[in-house]
Amino acid sequence: MKFGYFDDDRREYVITTPETPLPWINYLGCSDFFSLISNTMGGYSFYKDAKLLRITRYRYNDVPLDINGKYFYVKDGDTIWNPGFKPTQTPLDEYECRHGIGYSRFTGKKNDVKASVLSFVPLGDSCEIQRVTLTNEGSAAKDIQLFSYVEWCLWNADEDPRNFQRNLSTGEIEVKGSTIYHKTEYRERRNHFAIYSVNTEVDGFDTSRDEFMGSYNRGGANPLAVEEGKARNSMASGWYPIASHQINVSLAAGESKTFVFVLGYCENPDDDKWESYGVINKKPADALLAKYQTTEDVDKAFDALCTYWDELLTKYTVQSSNDKVNRMVNIWNQYQCMVTFNMSRSASYYESGIGRGMGFRDSCQDLLGFVHLIPERARQRIIDIASTQFEDGSAYHQYQPLTKKGNSDIGSGFNDDPLWLIAGTSAYVRESGDTTILDEMVPFDNDESKATPLMNHLKRSFDYIVTHRGPHNLPLIGRADWNDCLNLNCHSLHPGESFQTFGPSEGPVAESVFIGGMFVKYGLEYADLCELMGDQAEADRAKKEVEEMKKILLTAGWDGDWFVRAYDSSSNKVGSKECEEGQIYIEPQGFCVLAGVGVETGEAIKALDSVKEKLDTDYGIMILQPAYTRYHEELGEVSSYPPGYKENAGIFCHNNPWVSIAETVVGRGDRAFEIYKKTCPAYVEEFSEIHRTEPYVYSQMVAGRDAKFHGEGKNSWLTGTAAWTFVNISQYILGVYPTHKGLQIDPCVPDGFGDFTITRKFREGTYNITVKNPNGVQKGVARMTVDGQEVEGCIVPYEKGKETYEVEITMG
Ligand code: BGC
Ligand code: NOJ
Repeated sequence: MKFGYFDDDRREYVITTPETPLPWINYLGCSDFFSLISNTMGGYSFYKDAKLLRITRYRYNDVPLDINGKYFYVKDGDTIWNPGFKPTQTPLDEYECRHGIGYSRFTGKKNDVKASVLSFVPLGDSCEIQRVTLTNEGSAAKDIQLFSYVEWCLWNADEDPRNFQRNLSTGEIEVKGSTIYHKTEYRERRNHFAIYSVNTEVDGFDTSRDEFMGSYNRGGANPLAVEEGKARNSMASGWYPIASHQINVSLAAGESKTFVFVLGYCENPDDDKWESYGVINKKPADALLAKYQTTEDVDKAFDALCTYWDELLTKYTVQSSNDKVNRMVNIWNQYQCMVTFNMSRSASYYESGIGRGMGFRDSCQDLLGFVHLIPERARQRIIDIASTQFEDGSAYHQYQPLTKKGNSDIGSGFNDDPLWLIAGTSAYVRESGDTTILDEMVPFDNDESKATPLMNHLKRSFDYIVTHRGPHNLPLIGRADWNDCLNLNCHSLHPGESFQTFGPSEGPVAESVFIGGMFVKYGLEYADLCELMGDQAEADRAKKEVEEMKKILLTAGWDGDWFVRAYDSSSNKVGSKECEEGQIYIEPQGFCVLAGVGVETGEAIKALDSVKEKLDTDYGIMILQPAYTRYHEELGEVSSYPPGYKENAGIFCHNNPWVSIAETVVGRGDRAFEIYKKTCPAYVEEFSEIHRTEPYVYSQMVAGRDAKFHGEGKNSWLTGTAAWTFVNISQYILGVYPTHKGLQIDPCVPDGFGDFTITRKFREGTYNITVKNPNGVQKGVARMTVDGQEVEGCIVPYEKGKETYEVEITMG
């Protein structure tokens, strides 16, 4: 069952009912100012950092309730309704929500009045624009009232829902004309404020939530001011500051009127904060608002945003006979990669914005799917991330986007982190050809006195794994590796203890086979970078270490039919036939094989066949089997979840593409594509009533076979699945993989996929690639021509400055 449809020409998902199984959201904003917006206009906004500079308030524990948003109320006689259905939930005569690329449009119609809202964050300005058009589609004149509504958050979203004894006395506002200024704490310590304004004279306003709503038993669904059609012109002092405008609108039959609302974030220089004693200097607000006074201004800004995205989405496009692949590759998968790049795991409907900031491993992986879009931003991100690394090569596991400082609550000790830095940097250098980043001086732990070239950071990453080994010579796992819930050194026995930080960060023996697989993959990428920089001796050393690791993986890391997952702190196997539960895990099968381990000697195929036999379901591949049915002190959080959810035998979408990529490495295009399809939103859309999360983006997790709600998605949007799936489909299945020497084109497709074309912008060049498959093979390049000339192999040699490459590939 579906709740909408894809409109590919407009790059929109069109939701046709407000009653979706869960809130289906979109993200507005590309760089500093962001809004989350659901299909019923729920959500919130923040500037740069969802924890420290939260602009509007959202209530927690709120999926699917979805309470608080930026709402418009229409009062038409005794009927009060919202164009996005909530919060009044008045049944609408017509409803549509179109989530587009960086914008959302809503249309609601009731009793002949149509309200259309377009919401977006313009490029280069810290604000959200809402263009609201009211149309009288009836045959008689109408006098109606429009009320806007936002509730301010008192900036720090962590304190906001907790410290009421203080918060209820801090709220402050100013009102001037049609602009409401949120100035809580705008004193010596803060130089920022927020505004909510409309480009017309208002017939009233409210800034006190209690006066707007009325007391007792009332809320957003039936605010008194709206019910009575009369704003209170209230001036909040403490309690709960809001911003609401009242506009009385007369519409002749057939007439439309448009209003432009701007929700903005402004800063003043420390020495120019005040217009007069206690009164905000409004110059930055005036300048911002001056830019968005007319519908023409808005149209121009909206066109600029659309052009920006048009351009970004020309970097990689495919035309194949499979519409779903075209749709995901050309639109939604790349869009989600931009969102995960911007948000890491900080703010979604499942990440509160007050917990994790930017994850070290998460952001490094996000780069893999983003780097082709805007390499310059990827470059800065790599430097920011590397700046939180420690001198010994380990790293802060997370950092705060505003301060860019490592988060000491969680600290370090996640032993996969160092290698992800190599992954992200290698992807950037392969994409851009810019080796200057490797010479860039980057601090350790944000201490500039300890700055050293980025290449040296990568060496420390590599060496961290070389020097942190356990009894089997496998890498020590530390607090956890990619699987945050495999806490082999934690041994927590009491609720309240954090699985991630309880216990020693480093036990002497618990080891990770998965990190071993990563070491092979990224150790070789490190060696490539060393060669590129002319350091052959270091490259050789790295390759030697990698060769040794391969041997260890195929002995201590091999269980007979699949790779072992880890060794616990008593040196017992995890993820082995010997285990009572959790006998096979997905991560080492995918990663070791995609790194090439066991490909020549047969273990790779065995491991992948075991995955199919033991872990596969209709909805994707589960992370492990059999699920843990009791808590295992020696394993930690993984065994704390009910069977089938999250890391305990859920379908973690993130590592499904690893297995799919691994299948392309062994040349099995049918199976690689089968895995791709199972979690792919465009395919999953068909059973949205089971999957429940947004059908245009990936979710982190789908409930596994052991779960009550097998097939149900959770934690949509912010997941490494976005980047890894884009890597899988674009670089391995369609096969266009950036190397240091140029683009390699080596597809691995399912039977019947047919011929296809790809346009890829890579460095200064545009590559028009035609792939022909006359004999319908799954993998193999029989012939390649570049500009009509046959070239050996399948790497299109990069030529500096060359602008167009016509490439033809014949598979066979
Ligand atoms: C979740 C993991 C997540 C971790 C972050 C755990 O509760 O299960 O998926 O990575 O928290 O700290
Ligand atoms: C989600 C986290 O963001 C990610 O860092 C981790 O690898 C996975 N969960 C698996 O635990």
